[in-house]
Amino acid sequence: HKVVFSGIQPTGIAHLGNYLGALRQWVTLQNESDPSTTLIYSLVDLHAITLRQPPAQLRQWKRESLAMLLAIGLDPKRSTIFHQSTVPAHAELMWILSCQASTGYLGRMTQWKDKTSGEKEGSEKLKLGLFSYPVLQAADVLVHGATHVPVGEDQAQHLEFAREVARGFNHVYGDGRVALVEPETIISSAKRVMSLTDPEAKMSKSHPNPKSRILLTDSAEEIRSKINTAVTDSITGVSYDPVQRPGVSNLVDILYHCTQGAGFEDQAALAKDLDGSSLRAVKRRVSDAVESQLRPIRERYQEIINNAQLLDDASTQGTQKATISANATLAKVKQAIGLT
Ligand code: TYM
Repeated sequence: HKVVFSGIQPTGIAHLGNYLGALRQWVTLQNESDPSTTLIYSLVDLHAITLRQPPAQLRQWKRESLAMLLAIGLDPKRSTIFHQSTVPAHAELMWILSCQASTGYLGRMTQWKDKTSGEKEGSEKLKLGLFSYPVLQAADVLVHGATHVPVGEDQAQHLEFAREVARGFNHVYGDGRVALVEPETIISSAKRVMSLTDPEAKMSKSHPNPKSRILLTDSAEEIRSKINTAVTDSITGVSYDPVQRPGVSNLVDILYHCTQGAGFEDQAALAKDLDGSSLRAVKRRVSDAVESQLRPIRERYQEIINNAQLLDDASTQGTQKATISANATLAKVKQAIGLT
């Protein structure tokens, strides 16, 4: 039985990296999977509070993120869409797994090292939730018995950790009555969309410069303006070389992925075809391609963001379905451990 699970933090409107790297695959999996496949997508609000968020802001973001999942084409009748905190089994399994997880492994996680490398104040300022973030992520996946997890490349390490936790748990408690499923990571071909202003870093919600990312709600004008100011280089012509020419290559990547390859075998072939066009013309093509991808999403989003009934129904329905799925695993786990 195939179970697809993935999550996104409700910390603002999703950007093009989230979409090409993950969300678009969620929709494809929904639309192309066999009816027997279970699809579960979570707005991971408990992960969102590992960094401090103003409460009113978080509430608004949760709503906007839910509307966005519907706007991209997820259907709440087919896919289970829910806010993580409404299904307590996630947090409960997390505690159980954290009695299993190694602190050494957690300390080596890239995200922890990146977020803490700037901290000069020392461990007083570092929050335990940020450290144990991957344990909650493992619980998200394992509590639903996910077999496939579609994500961008930056999540691969977290899912490797989830498999390790599952193996460890099964080793200790697996006696035939319970076996946590080791999930497979599905990484999309657009696995790492880069920042427009700093193309050596990935596009992210938290970068201080809003021009570094394209939001799924950006207008045609905003898209054009952000692409126009995207950092490139002074080398003549167009070529695909992510190491030497990260900015230009990122634009080629974006064009490639927004046009389903544009009829070319790979990005290098597309770049070759673009060579000879001015950078201005290339940027125009990129803007047009992004706008064509995002226009339907933006329009649908505007239609539903103020439809409280639709949003409430979707999330209530999602919570009900996710609760059933999660509680089934949690009950077996508690039994195996001797808690029940
Ligand atoms: P989050 O909210 O940072 O990102 C959501 C998804 O978008 C992908 N992504 C990108 N892909 C390509 N290029 C980029 N620049 C880019 N930026 C983000 C991410 O890889 C992700 O797939 N910890 C997760 C949320 C999570 C989760 C889970 C995911 C919690 N529990 C269980 C899978 C399974 C996160 O913070 O994603």
